Amino acid sequence: MIKIAPSVLAANFTALGQDIEEVAQAGADYLHIDVMDGVFVPNISIGVPVVAAIRKATTMTLDVHLMITKPLRYVEAFLNAGADILVFHIEADEPQNIRTAIDLVKSSGKRVGLSLKPKTPADTLIPYIGDLDMVLIMTVEPGFGGQKFMADQLPKIHAVDALIQAQNPACELQVDGGIDPSTAPLVTLAGANVLVAGSAVFGKADRKAAIDALRI
Ligand code: DX5
Ligand code: ZN
Repeated sequence: MIKIAPSVLAANFTALGQDIEEVAQAGADYLHIDVMDGVFVPNISIGVPVVAAIRKATTMTLDVHLMITKPLRYVEAFLNAGADILVFHIEADEPQNIRTAIDLVKSSGKRVGLSLKPKTPADTLIPYIGDLDMVLIMTVEPGFGGQKFMADQLPKIHAVDALIQAQNPACELQVDGGIDPSTAPLVTLAGANVLVAGSAVFGKADRKAAIDALRI
């Protein structure tokens, strides 16, 4: 079963509640929230207060993607704000702090994921894979919506899927960046089961048709 996670980065921020309600009604599985600090990525997006406000507005599963340096500093804040799945980048800190951040999320009972930038190899996940609920493979350089899908990431999606099947089959495999009806079949064939889509959902007037078009 393919899950769709619309990214609010492409939503109308002056009508965010309405946009979220529309994708919930349209059958979206998770709501993807991109947090950027202007350091880990060259852009600043939204932070803890907006996640807390979204939490009050919807019962959807909040899938929070932290593109911030040293994420351990903010794990508790985002969990308290209402994140259901907290994903941070493997490149964002030293291994011992990544490990501590994973343990902190798990001890709260929430789901935890690690994300890989395009240049980061699949085997960097090996020390962590048994403890993860989700892996997020970036199919663009993180920082901005509306970029072109990087087809050179398909072998990595395959490799991570093989790792998951061998060591932790319950772990979800998410892809993020440039997902639309033409690229969705490529990533699902490679093993992805959760598709993030910003422009391809919030950029379309008919959100139900947009989400349905990604499941094929
Ligand atoms: C990029 C973000 C993505 C972004 C995807 O750094 O992580 O979630 O919103 O946008 P689209 O689907 O437009 O490529
Ligand atoms: Zn994202």
